[in-house]
Amino acid sequence: MHTVEVATPGGAYPIHIAAGRLGALAQAIPADATTIALVTNPVVDALYGERVRAALATTGRRIVPVILPDGESHKTLDTLNRIFDVMLGEQLDRRTVIVALGGGVIGDMAGFAAAVYLRGVRFVQVPTTLLAQVDSSVGGKTAVNHPLGKNMIGAFYQPIAVEIDTDALNTLPDREISAGLAEIIKYGLILDDAFFAWCEQNVGGLRAREPDLIATAIRKSCEYKAWVVSRDERESGLREILNLGHTFGHAIEAGLGYGAWLHGEAVGCGLVMAADLSAELLGFAPAEVVRVRTLVAAIGCPVSGPRLGGVDQWMTLMRGDKKTRDGEITFVLMPCIGEAVRRGAPAELVARVIERNTR
Ligand code: NAD
Ligand code: GLY
Repeated sequence: MHTVEVATPGGAYPIHIAAGRLGALAQAIPADATTIALVTNPVVDALYGERVRAALATTGRRIVPVILPDGESHKTLDTLNRIFDVMLGEQLDRRTVIVALGGGVIGDMAGFAAAVYLRGVRFVQVPTTLLAQVDSSVGGKTAVNHPLGKNMIGAFYQPIAVEIDTDALNTLPDREISAGLAEIIKYGLILDDAFFAWCEQNVGGLRAREPDLIATAIRKSCEYKAWVVSRDERESGLREILNLGHTFGHAIEAGLGYGAWLHGEAVGCGLVMAADLSAELLGFAPAEVVRVRTLVAAIGCPVSGPRLGGVDQWMTLMRGDKKTRDGEITFVLMPCIGEAVRRGAPAELVARVIERNTR
C-alpha cells in the first residue's frame, strides 16, 4: 500500500492507495463514530455496495445507505437535500461519519453535505473513478452546480481520509478512464515535464489499465495534488494552477449542458486550448502545443471544442469562472511544459484560440 499525506489548515489526513482497499475500509472509521452514512449511487452500489457494507459492518456501527441519482445533471441542491432528508429522518448525530463511495459527483456532494450537516460532520472519500482517485477526492473542494455555473455553491472541507481501491477501476467504462487521464497529464503540464514525458511513453498501458502503471499514475497525481493543496488550501494563489484547461473546459460543460461531455473530456480539450493560448501569449513552443494535442488525442479525449453560440458565448461562459476578477478572466498558462502561471489575456488572442480550436 502507498500512503500520501495531506496537511492543510483545515485538516491533515492520509490517502491510502492499494488494490483491494475497499475490504479494509473499517480502518478509516474513527472509534468514536456513532453511525455511518454511506452515500453512493445505484451504479456504484450495484458494483461495490455489498462489499463496502460488509467491510464497514465490522465496525459494529449502524450503516445508513443514501442512494442518490447518478450523473452530473443531478449534482444539484435538490439532490443534496435528499442526503439531509435521509440523515435527519434517521436522526443521525454529530458523530456520524459520511462515507462517499463513487466518482467526483458523489464525492463533491457528500463532502458538501458533511460540511454543513449539523454544521459539520466527518467524512471519508472512497473514490471509484480514475478522475476522483487522482483529483476530486483530494483537497477538500466540495460543491454542487447551479444553472448559472458549475460548482458555484460549495465549501472547502477536508475529509478525514481518502481510501483508494485501484481494483475499482476494472469496472469503469473506457471513456471514464480517458477522462481521468486528462487530469493526470495536467499534473505533468503544470509541475513536472518528466512526468508528462512518462505519460507520453506509457499512454497505451495506462489506457489498458496496466496495474503497475495505473498505480504509479495515481500515486504521483496524489503527491502533486497534496503538495499544492497543502500550500494553498483555499485557492488564494498557487492552487489555481490545478485549473489548467478548466476555464475553457467549464465553458464547454456549461455551454453544452452538464453531462453532455464528461468533465475530464472538457478538461482534456481545455488543455489543448490552454497550450495554444500559451503559445500566443507566452512563447510556449508550437512543437509543444503539438505534443499536448497528440497526448490528449492519445488518451482518448476530444482535441477540438464545440462552436457553441460563437466566441461571444464562449467569453460569457468563461467570465463565469471562479478565477474571474472584476470581469477579467484569469487563465492558467504554461511558459513551458512543467510550469504554470496565472494571467489575463487580450480578448482578441482568446478569440483566435477559440476560433482555431472549435468546430
Ligand atoms: P462521476 O462521478 O459522474 O462518475 C462517472 C460515472 O462512473 C458515473 O456514472 C458513476 O456512477 C460511474 N462509476 C463510478 N465508479 C465506477 C466504477 N468503479 N465502475 C463503473 N462505473 C463507475 O464523474 P467523475 O469523472 O468521477 O467526477 C466528475 C465530477 O468531479 C465533476 O462534477 C467535477 O466537477 C468534479 N470534480 C471535482 C474536483 C474537486 O476538486 N472536488 C476535481 C475535479 C472534478
Ligand atoms: N481540481 C482543482 C482543485 O482541486 O483545486
